[in-house]
Amino acid sequence: MLNHTVEFIKEHTKGKYNPKTALILGSGLGDLANEVSGVRIRYHEIPAFVQSSIEGHAGQLVIGKLEGKQVLVMQGRIHYYEGHEIQKIVYPVKVMKKLGVENLIITNAAGGVSEKVTIGDLMLINDHINFMGVNPLIGANANDLGERFPDMSEVYNPALREKTKKIAAKLGINLKEGIYAATSGPSYETPAEIKMFRTLGADAVGMSTVPEAIVANYCGMKILGISCITNMAAGVTGKRLNHSEVIEEGQKVKENFTKLIRQVIRHI
Ligand code: HPA
Repeated sequence: MLNHTVEFIKEHTKGKYNPKTALILGSGLGDLANEVSGVRIRYHEIPAFVQSSIEGHAGQLVIGKLEGKQVLVMQGRIHYYEGHEIQKIVYPVKVMKKLGVENLIITNAAGGVSEKVTIGDLMLINDHINFMGVNPLIGANANDLGERFPDMSEVYNPALREKTKKIAAKLGINLKEGIYAATSGPSYETPAEIKMFRTLGADAVGMSTVPEAIVANYCGMKILGISCITNMAAGVTGKRLNHSEVIEEGQKVKENFTKLIRQVIRHI
């Protein structure tokens, strides 16, 4: 099936593009894909892809050029909480690998957990805690993609992180850095759960990214993870949470987010 999907995408791009860098755009952050000139394919047209049903996620693959570099962009991602098997969530990452992608930039909207971060911050992910209750590598191992027991010591590539920090400093962006904890969602966390995450060392919490990062690491890709802190997590300020605020805040940080990602792609 994987080869079938890869061939389908190659046919659509007529062999014109061989991107080495891919970008997964999280909630409210999809607009950057509109600035890519190239080919657009809706997920539902792609064999074995699933369509995202969540507001704020367009659901298409964009393959083309940004900042003079070839890129493959997922404008909107699929979340585990939408009810698909976890293998479906990470399928696009395996397709990227087969298409020759070497660098994967994963972005998300996240809740701020620790004092290190505040609303409107961009946070470089330096490690994660998988609290989703599932691992996307469960099942028969695909030996052509990776090994059965992949090491997870350095999932988020140190060199890419350093480069991104330097770019952020040049742009005058106060880029934070920290640990991202993932839950399955779709309910937000309770204040007690957030207290637990803070105790465990998490700086931000969200419902995505970790499955894709596990599989990209397994496939030997270099990963860069960036969270947009769209709200403080439950119990931090006592304010109730809602999805439209997450999307709205995503819109507000869009300018810095776009500037940063563009420069990272240019220099990757
Ligand atoms: N919790 C989980 N996921 C999120 C949050 C949050 O507070 N904000 C944005 N995505």
